[in-house]
Amino acid sequence: MALKRIAILASGRGSNFSAIANAIQTKKIPNAKIVGLMCNKPEAPVIQEAKLRGIPTFIIPSNEFKAGVKFDRAAYEERLLECLLGLHPDFICLAGYMLLLGPRIIQSFPEKILNIHPSLLPKFKGLRAQKQALDAGEKETGCTVHLVTEELDAGKTLVQRKTLIEPGDTEESLSLRLLNLEHEAYTEALRALCGS
Ligand code: GRF
Repeated sequence: MALKRIAILASGRGSNFSAIANAIQTKKIPNAKIVGLMCNKPEAPVIQEAKLRGIPTFIIPSNEFKAGVKFDRAAYEERLLECLLGLHPDFICLAGYMLLLGPRIIQSFPEKILNIHPSLLPKFKGLRAQKQALDAGEKETGCTVHLVTEELDAGKTLVQRKTLIEPGDTEESLSLRLLNLEHEAYTEALRALCGS
């Protein structure tokens, strides 16, 4: 069976990117390969991570797509789409990708775009989900791998992992604990989708 082709979009640190790459290397995801990393921030550490692993990188600086003060999303996404289509991905993983994807890209890859979000969706969509859970006084929270649709953080859930919120947890301590669960959840979701 041909290896499933995974493209990853990221904007920053890249721990989920590395977790997926490691899981492929150690055959926890036996039937996949990463065909490219796309990044909108030229200074993001994830780019180095990809280069060290010999994974092709495609850097499309989103801040170069400013029309006056406004972000020209259509022009940026046209470039991104061209790049993605050239990679023929079976799946596209958002891994700390800090821009919203527009309808043109989402409609070009139906049911093929995945995201990881640090809450038990449908609770706490959007930014700083860990802080939202703490502020709401939740007893537990978690992370969700889900399909990406045009509505933010609302597509079908594929995998969730939970953790208790401990007394004294801060946004930082909780985020760190969740990150390990995110890595496991993304691995499990891709293993299931790519076949073993
Ligand atoms: C993760 O917490 C993920 O859930 C969120 O952005 C963060 C990315 O972390 N979408 P990393 O860049 O993968 O380390």
